[in-house]
Amino acid sequence: METLMLSASDPKTAATAANLIMNGQLVAIPTETVYGLGANGLDEAAVAKIFEAKGRPQDNPLILHICGAEQIELFCHHIPQKAYDLAEKFWPGPLTMVLPARDCVPKRTTGGLATVAVRCPDNAVTREIIRLSGVPVAAPSANISGKPSTTTAEHVRHDHDGKIAAIVDGGSCRVGVESTIVDLTEERPRLLRPGGITPEQLLEVLGDLVVDKAVTAQIDKDAVVKAPGMKYRHYAPSEPVVIVSGSRETAAAYIRAHFEPGDRVLCFEEELPLYEGCNPLSYGREADVNTLSAGLFAALRELDDPAIHQVYARCPVGGGVAYAVQNRLKKAAAFHIVDAEEEV
Ligand code: TXA
Ligand code: MG
Repeated sequence: METLMLSASDPKTAATAANLIMNGQLVAIPTETVYGLGANGLDEAAVAKIFEAKGRPQDNPLILHICGAEQIELFCHHIPQKAYDLAEKFWPGPLTMVLPARDCVPKRTTGGLATVAVRCPDNAVTREIIRLSGVPVAAPSANISGKPSTTTAEHVRHDHDGKIAAIVDGGSCRVGVESTIVDLTEERPRLLRPGGITPEQLLEVLGDLVVDKAVTAQIDKDAVVKAPGMKYRHYAPSEPVVIVSGSRETAAAYIRAHFEPGDRVLCFEEELPLYEGCNPLSYGREADVNTLSAGLFAALRELDDPAIHQVYARCPVGGGVAYAVQNRLKKAAAFHIVDAEEEV
């Protein structure tokens, strides 16, 4: 099929995209986090197309994208007050909540779980598409399963040209890493995936937060986990990635000592001069972590090249949005980290 490219600034785009979704087609939609591969979340056949296009494991549930907090009760039940408190504070925005699912949500969408993830994205054209389609839009990140997420329309075209009905081009995604996911189905709120809404911000509203073990460690593929998506290999370029921690100078000394032709260095803009001759690629400024989250996936895509042997990566430290960047980079590196300070 021919994949239509629709501009977010064209006033006809929302109606065209909404019509395709109502007709059971796949449409890639821009959000503030990453591009999503959208379909009618209540239509089993349409949702099946998402899994097929992505090559996604069937047990990995999808997020329903909705217009606002008033729609939560259409798809969820036993909604605690804190869900509304979070929505009030952070929606539209990069926060997804997991709640008990109503029967109207197909098992294909929830990956067979009794819960469903909901989020209201901070993107005007995408919210208009959802509103006009009259259904919740199920949308995983629009990458092929296992590959770095898509933060531009061009990334989506690279992965899905000819396989989906349309791509809505809304430019580069502002946040650049996927939404924060918090599970509100247990007594204590649980962080399943860090993102643009930080643990510190969640704590301010919730007063309590458990960090799921899948956030900080590699999970066995046969394990029973809260967030099924967390156990699969993620965001990974084709070659091995190793994170090198430690001070700027010590890390550079370690990497330069181990660097071989065909390797690449993924570093902060401030570090580029330290890696002359080592083919460095910057993904943003260490001094502004938002540039790192916005640039990470595009950089990982650029490094997805079979000609590369090994990638040495520098990772920001600390909490806030850096916590989400650490999580994605560690997953890309399959939690392979070398502390340069201990190696000298
Ligand atoms: O920012 C985002 O969240 C993007 C944009 C498009 O909105 N979407 C996204 O979707 O990242 P996806 O499918 O790539 O990641 C969704 C994650 C998966 O790890 C999945 O396992 C988890 O959410 N998830 C979905 N429903 C869940 C549920 N009911 N319980 C636990 N985890 C769930
Ligand atoms: Mg994804």
